[in-house]
Amino acid sequence: MRPINIDEYREAARHILSPDAWNYIAGGSEDETTVSENTQAYGRWRLIPKIFRDVSTRDQSVSLLGQTVSLPVVLAPTSPLRLAHEEAEIAQVKAAARHNALAILSMDAHHSLEETAEVSNGPRWFQLYCYGDRSLMKEVIAKAEASGHSALVVTADAFYPGRRERMMRTSFVLPDHIRMGNLEGLKIDPAARRPDGSIRRFALTWSDLEWVRSCTSLPIVIKGVSSADDAEMAVRLGVSGLVVSNHGGRQIDQALPSLDCLPAIVDRVGAAAEVYIDGGIRRGTDVLKALALGAKAVLIGRAYIWGLAVAGEEGVSHVLDIFKQEIDVAMAQMGLSDLKSLNSSYVAAATNYR
Ligand code: FNR
Repeated sequence: MRPINIDEYREAARHILSPDAWNYIAGGSEDETTVSENTQAYGRWRLIPKIFRDVSTRDQSVSLLGQTVSLPVVLAPTSPLRLAHEEAEIAQVKAAARHNALAILSMDAHHSLEETAEVSNGPRWFQLYCYGDRSLMKEVIAKAEASGHSALVVTADAFYPGRRERMMRTSFVLPDHIRMGNLEGLKIDPAARRPDGSIRRFALTWSDLEWVRSCTSLPIVIKGVSSADDAEMAVRLGVSGLVVSNHGGRQIDQALPSLDCLPAIVDRVGAAAEVYIDGGIRRGTDVLKALALGAKAVLIGRAYIWGLAVAGEEGVSHVLDIFKQEIDVAMAQMGLSDLKSLNSSYVAAATNYR
């Protein structure tokens, strides 16, 4: 039976994936409290439908840093997708392009930026983790620009690994056949390598943002923001967009669910930068709740990896279809013909209703 919603895809993927791959993808840090609460947070909000609106046509398109995409659901950077399916990032970008949806490619992708650019001219951004040294990273950023990526997403919440106990229990290491496509063919200083041959990541601080900006003319998005003070600092330093995110609960456990962080961040910087959100999104109604609370778009991570595990590109595309259909039906029920009219008057905290 073909899954009809994201939870069914999750269950199907659980049966297909090896226990190691399942644990790597599904898991989070320590007690995985943030993993579960990211999703539960959506259950603490309810929708307020409005009546007598003409919703005979419905438009889900949104403009993200000046580029119009057909739905407000973005494929988050996740890696290594090869653990879920051999099509990996090729499936990610092809499925996104079919829907004119945005795909964000991970620095740690198996397939290089050039390989994915070759099979898709759909909307794509590139997510940066910093390896080796600055000159190496400058080269990678230049490649991202040259291969048609239209924004640089700097992930700020994963400079140091989280304590992922599922991985510790089995001493999991990534299989050898998984490449770091974006680092292949580059001249890497031997000093940047660890004894096992892998390449060291380096952490950034606020003062490094100026350097990142000097490497590119692309707009910069910071991913992994939970604090309104950090959001304000980022905007002051010229950042165009922010992803409110705790890395899907994979970094610090007990982090506040991303949805709970969203209103304060939108309040502080929503007029000056685009604010996106990820973590725990499983339903079209989750997407509408996030947008009503001020997000411009949402990113999905595990939801599309489940689709990938089950059926490669077809599965990712079907996951996007499911979101599209759920959002469409919810818009019709809510009295929304487009997403611009969605605002906080369409939601209320569930606890308001006794
Ligand atoms: C991630 N995430 C992530 N983020 C990032 O910036 N670069 C990366 O390479 C990865 N890799 C990665 C692998 C896997 C297996 C997962 C599940 C997640 C985090 C990702 O972009 C996103 O923030 C979360 O996945 C959002 O939470 P949900 O949708 O998975 O609940």
